[in-house]
Amino acid sequence: MDHSLPKYQLLEDEIEQGIVDGRWKCGERLPSIRTLCDLHGCAKITIQHALQRLEAKGLIESRERAGFFVTYEKEKFDTPCRMECIESPKPVSVSELFRDIMTRSAAFDLTPNLHTGEMPQGIVQLNRSIGRALRRQKGDFQYYDEPAGDPGLRHQLAMLLAKRGWTGDASEVCITSGCQQSIFLALLTVCSEGDVVAVESPGFYGVLQLLEQLKLKVIEVPTSLQTGMDINALSDILNQWNVRACVVQPAFATPGGSVMPRAARTRLIELAEEHDLAIIEDDIYAETGWAGIPDTLKSLDHSGRVIHCSSLSKVLSRDLRLGWVCGGRWHSAILQMKLTSQLASSRFVQQGVETYIKEGDFAAFLRKLRFRLRKQRDQLLEHLANCPLAVRTTAPQGGLAVWVEFPGAINTIDIYSKALDEGIVITPGNLFSGSDRFGNCLRISFAHPWDNQRTRALTRILELVQDP
Ligand SMILES: Cc1ncc(COP(=O)(O)O)c(C=O)c1O
Repeated sequence: MDHSLPKYQLLEDEIEQGIVDGRWKCGERLPSIRTLCDLHGCAKITIQHALQRLEAKGLIESRERAGFFVTYEKEKFDTPCRMECIESPKPVSVSELFRDIMTRSAAFDLTPNLHTGEMPQGIVQLNRSIGRALRRQKGDFQYYDEPAGDPGLRHQLAMLLAKRGWTGDASEVCITSGCQQSIFLALLTVCSEGDVVAVESPGFYGVLQLLEQLKLKVIEVPTSLQTGMDINALSDILNQWNVRACVVQPAFATPGGSVMPRAARTRLIELAEEHDLAIIEDDIYAETGWAGIPDTLKSLDHSGRVIHCSSLSKVLSRDLRLGWVCGGRWHSAILQMKLTSQLASSRFVQQGVETYIKEGDFAAFLRKLRFRLRKQRDQLLEHLANCPLAVRTTAPQGGLAVWVEFPGAINTIDIYSKALDEGIVITPGNLFSGSDRFGNCLRISFAHPWDNQRTRALTRILELVQDP
């Protein structure tokens, strides 16, 4: 036990270990806050803080006036990790269908052609901020911004990250045109053609596309829908193959919304040291967490091996095309890559966003967004509860989607084409692996309000699953 850690973290680690080891079973109630205070000699606020963090990881949930219950289902969500189910590294070759789905923005909305609803107030304020920054520019259009991006915005981002345990500053942040570009710059910097990159499976399809583009080989690491990449499996892989980099989403990973426990994160950093590995942290969903926001993986990194990548796409607007990368030991090489590939980012957009964050509008917007996302997730889960064919469904505490598994005979790719004929776009499970796995799964987004059209589209999809 590391006694230099704050008390709430020691307690959090202890309960988490108990849950992951199966000492606390799914559905069991944890001792009351008062009992935990007595048992651990801690103040109520310390216990509450630890429980809130465990809830953010999706390991427990609070039920009104009943206490905290374990939600982690070991048998249900832990992927058995055997070497024989791991394929050797291979080049990535994504199909035409894959590209087709990607060009339809990979279905974060079931009905992407029917834009409904009003613009949230927070976005109206963002527009104003950006408009003001544009008007202030006057004759400045003849200059490029500095390659790392606007210092004021970088400072604001560093402050946001500091709340999540990172101790870096603005000089270690480089603005990009989105998280996809951040990961691209990271891979381009640390890897050379033919290198092997470990990724989550199921994991983010955008990374597979990048690996294909950069002629890198992929090795897919079994990934739990609850606790993320299986670190034991990764360790076996690293002992067998020469892996250059590993891309992970420690917080509310797509597609299932998993959160990596602290012990797994620490082990991942240790493995990176042992095997001279670069870790690319895709943190894009972290700020959506309504029960709490996990610390960054980068906060555990003391030797600059973690390249932190993120953006405002999932929490503010995809259209801003505003992301960042904190490149650790590779930061200056990444900056150079950005300079040669893009020269600079749009200055007035950055300045507008900086003001938006500084004035507190972003924090207020995030609070409302999280509340809304939780409600939309609950509505989706309620709907799915009526689908007898859904074998298992994740119930994340953040992110924008749930992952639904149907019986093995169902192929969601077939449903994709039929749904498309009716104007509905779905995200079939195959998309989340380069090895034709997860064909019986579907990622369903709760990013948008369940208005009549979306609810009808959802009902229709479930009908198609039952009667393809
Ligand atoms: C996990 C993950 N990482 C990165 C991205 C790319 O995000 P951006 O729009 O910031 O480039 C996405 C977009 O869907 C994503 O889901």
